[in-house]
Amino acid sequence: MDKKELINMAIEARKNAYVPYSNFPVGAAVLMDSGKIYTGCNVESASYGATNCAERTAIFKAVSEGERKILAIAIVGDLNSITFPCGICRQVFLEFAREMKIIVATSETNYKEYTLDEIIPFSFAPSDLNDSSNGGK
Ligand code: THU
Repeated sequence: MDKKELINMAIEARKNAYVPYSNFPVGAAVLMDSGKIYTGCNVESASYGATNCAERTAIFKAVSEGERKILAIAIVGDLNSITFPCGICRQVFLEFAREMKIIVATSETNYKEYTLDEIIPFSFAPSDLNDSSNGGK
């Protein structure tokens, strides 16, 4: 996987961010197991809670094209200090990956890389719904 390519695609997607309320553009690029890369930006709403983060925009684009497994995501928000994904996006990562690389960057040369377990430990994941210890309730 070419991390620089993924980061650069996130930087490019960031340019399309629709952020009239926060003025905080974010771009994301997600690599799926098909080898295809999907990009996304944050899209805000006058009803603030309807806002969609860049990460989820990219992932939902991929899933709606039939993709199901994330291998890696690159995220670029603030260009001075690294932006981490929000809690809702971390939960969505869990839905489509057990092992994936999370690359948070300010540029193609300044980035950090994490695992899902590192950024969302003690998670509730799809596999927890199959735990028979709850008696199927
Ligand atoms: N945002 C993202 O798109 N991704 C993140 O990782 C953090 C937050 C967006 C949501 C909102 O449009 C703006 O950043 C400020 O919270």
